[in-house]
Amino acid sequence: MDISGGNTSRQPQKKSNQNIQVYVRVRPLNSRERCIRSAEVVDVVGPREVVTRHTLDSKLTKKFTFDRSFGPESKQCDVYSVVVSPLIEEVLNGYNCTVFAYGQTGTGKTHTMVGNETAELKSSWEDDSDIGIIPRALSHLFDELRMMEVEYTMRISYLELYNEELCDLLSTDDTTKIRIFDDSTKKGSVIIQGLEEIPVHSKDDVYKLLEKGKERRKTATTLMNAQSSRSHTVFSIVVHIRENGIEGEDMLKIGKLNLVDLAGSENVSKAGNEKGIRVRETVNINQSLLTLGRVITALVDRAPHVPYRESKLTRLLQESLGGRTKTSIIATISPGHKDIEETLSTLEYAHRAKNIQNKPEVNQKLTKKLEHHHHHH
Ligand SMILES: Nc1ncnc2c1ncn2[C@@H]1O[C@H](COP(=O)(O)OP(=O)(O)OP(=O)(O)O)[C@@H](O)[C@H]1O
Ligand SMILES: [Mg+2]
Repeated sequence: MDISGGNTSRQPQKKSNQNIQVYVRVRPLNSRERCIRSAEVVDVVGPREVVTRHTLDSKLTKKFTFDRSFGPESKQCDVYSVVVSPLIEEVLNGYNCTVFAYGQTGTGKTHTMVGNETAELKSSWEDDSDIGIIPRALSHLFDELRMMEVEYTMRISYLELYNEELCDLLSTDDTTKIRIFDDSTKKGSVIIQGLEEIPVHSKDDVYKLLEKGKERRKTATTLMNAQSSRSHTVFSIVVHIRENGIEGEDMLKIGKLNLVDLAGSENVSKAGNEKGIRVRETVNINQSLLTLGRVITALVDRAPHVPYRESKLTRLLQESLGGRTKTSIIATISPGHKDIEETLSTLEYAHRAKNIQNKPEVNQKLTKKLEHHHHHH
């Protein structure tokens, strides 16, 4: 059932600026790094502070402060409860929220966003299992909505951006081309034509869809990391909630949660690019990531022009960068001394993003009660 119909009127809203929340998560040393006795040069020294050293015994240290820093022992449920759990309430209140995972290849973006493949969604979102943010958020939303006893619909979509081409990870039809259009009714918003938004009714529904999406996600083999993912993915959950009002009118709230797993941010020189296709991949990945960086710079500097249109990634996520969305970034980093240059670049990038201000706005409107709506037809 579509509960979004009916005549609608927009309510005036109070706007207030809100900085992007920025978190950092350090992964543990992996077996290869332990094998070569890699030195750990990143320390989480407080709930918010991260300290890096250039070498193990170096006196040269750098300190960064974030909204929260998660060390190598942090659990999936710790990250979820700090970063995403508070956003669930916002989504249910009709806000759009976005969480980005940004970092070098192999630092735990997909681990944080999706988590262990074998861990089951059926467990509670609060459990100490290896499931990541996406399945936890879905489980949490279902639990909250059941308790609220409201009329609602939930839809999910899963988009992949690979070589500046869009692919629907939940679609069974490969021939539909996905296109991005500007939403003429809402400045800064885009409409993604051809993307399926699949209604989900239970945790079981979602579990099956996630398995399907995972199979479709392209993972290209690179010289760096066989599991490395060269694509960006955007997982979106849209919730429509109809609340009983008085005098023949209901309140319709539309909340959205975007969970973005970016491609590895390592630079061209490290990616190993002697083959033609690899060059093209790297160039395009960097086009999107480079534009993301430029957009962040323009927003931080309050430049008059923000180059959203220069990549599909920034067009898709324009609302999340300086727009009407509540946005968070999780920067994932390696603790090893071999990665220190990339780690510093990620920390500096993330730290800069803290200065971006968004103007979150609720999507809620009064709508005629369903019974009245049906009488019109
Ligand atoms: N916090 C963590 N705790 C335990 N294992 C982790 C953690 N973060 C990452 N890993 C492990 O490290 C490996 C690489 O992580 P992951 O695939 O999530 O990296 P990524 O950032 O998505 O890389 P890519 O950019 O190549 O997609 C995986 O085997 C993952 O399970
Ligand atoms: Mg990944």
